[in-house]
Amino acid sequence: MFPKSFKEIQVDWPAPEHVPAELKVNLAFAMGMQPNDLVDPYEPCAWLSGPDVPPLLYNAANPDPHAGGGVTAGGSRGTWIVSHYADINRVYTDNDHFSNKGTAEFQRMIGETFRSIPLAIDPPEHSKYRMFLMPHFSPARLNKMMDDIRKVCVDMIEAVRKDGEVDIAYDFGRVFPVKIFMSLMGFPPENFDRFLEWEWNILHGDSMEKTAWALRSVLDYLRSFIAEKEANPDDGLVSSIVNGTIEGKPLTDEEKIGMVWFLWLGGLDTVAATISQMFRRMALEPWIQDWIIEHPEGIPGAVEEFLRTQPILSSGRSAKFDFEWHGLQIKAGDMFQCLNPSGNFDPAQFEDPRRFDPTRKGNRHFTFVGGIHLCLGAPLARRELRILLEEWFTRVGKFKVKEGADTTVFPFLLSIRNLPLVWDVKG
Ligand code: HEM
Repeated sequence: MFPKSFKEIQVDWPAPEHVPAELKVNLAFAMGMQPNDLVDPYEPCAWLSGPDVPPLLYNAANPDPHAGGGVTAGGSRGTWIVSHYADINRVYTDNDHFSNKGTAEFQRMIGETFRSIPLAIDPPEHSKYRMFLMPHFSPARLNKMMDDIRKVCVDMIEAVRKDGEVDIAYDFGRVFPVKIFMSLMGFPPENFDRFLEWEWNILHGDSMEKTAWALRSVLDYLRSFIAEKEANPDDGLVSSIVNGTIEGKPLTDEEKIGMVWFLWLGGLDTVAATISQMFRRMALEPWIQDWIIEHPEGIPGAVEEFLRTQPILSSGRSAKFDFEWHGLQIKAGDMFQCLNPSGNFDPAQFEDPRRFDPTRKGNRHFTFVGGIHLCLGAPLARRELRILLEEWFTRVGKFKVKEGADTTVFPFLLSIRNLPLVWDVKG
């Protein structure tokens, strides 16, 4: 079902002239858009970090206009693919050669010109936005949120504990982190169903019209929300952003929408997808549950290993100017896609990479990327995941997938819609 060698993915599709013909490949299967039912859903990318795979491949544009394949960096031109740990690390940390301009700027599709802040901003400008947002994600700020996060988590677990079953993806994973996110941002909680519908259409939309409709809807909503917070400030993050100052000056309208939009996109369902995949993996590999029950102090290590083995995103960059890399000519504007599902399992970096090892040392994975764009929400995400595991195994204990349930997963965002779990109710 999935290709297993370099030879199988080589194609003769159009690509820019400076791309050698033998490096042109079809990597649609590795972009998270093709679901599978493997215990380790990222396994199909395993061989791409092997020593016999060239360091740079070129994911050529499929000439068939009906081929689909979702949104990929590089659009119709195709993109260089970086699949080995050391090379991915270079792309994320070498801001002299690689740029974030245009990253995650889906808004361009409907003619919007504002930038996604801070993700699409290069240094030195990036640091002023990062510094502006950082206090809202600082350890001191997160410590203040801990009691609330734990309370939301405990209330949700207690509401279903005695039922002996829950749809962990739809009724739990989708709701718990999104509730925290909505409260952090100050968004009214009743909006999250339509937020998720918009996000689904932006990331997985099956037509340009639907994607454009979702983009227009969310941007109209966010702009009216910004106006409302300017008129009636509160203590949510959106209000702090739109009423804040950078270097002594109020933010421009472009900066306000750029930041609120990117936080909306980056923080909405990332933790949700991680939770669903984490419970799926534990259900399919019950020894992980036993291990956590026996080693509750090892939960931070287990969370890190879930993050490494579930890299829900691969990140894009572009070349700032012409240069040579691995003996190949790179041209200004060439797009790069770093395959985190391959880099996170590179045998040159991780011993026995496909083994889930909650005691793994020096677990420097790319799930939150690296370098200056390291996920700003990572400390919050880690805390939510740790609290959830602590409270789940204290209150519920062991579980399994409900008989007959579909365990198919998209190895990407919005990865599992439904995943019913069952357990024996404790007295
Ligand atoms: C498990 C959950 C999460 C994952 C896997 C994740 C993943 C990522 C990744 C891969 C990037 C970098 C993208 C790139 O460089 O191209 C990123 C950046 C970012 N994320 Fe997250 N994220 C998560 C949760 C969150 C949350 C909860 C928030 C906010 C509430 C958030 C806010 C951000 C921001 C603001 C950036 C941009 C940082 C910068 O450019 O300086 N993320 N995230």
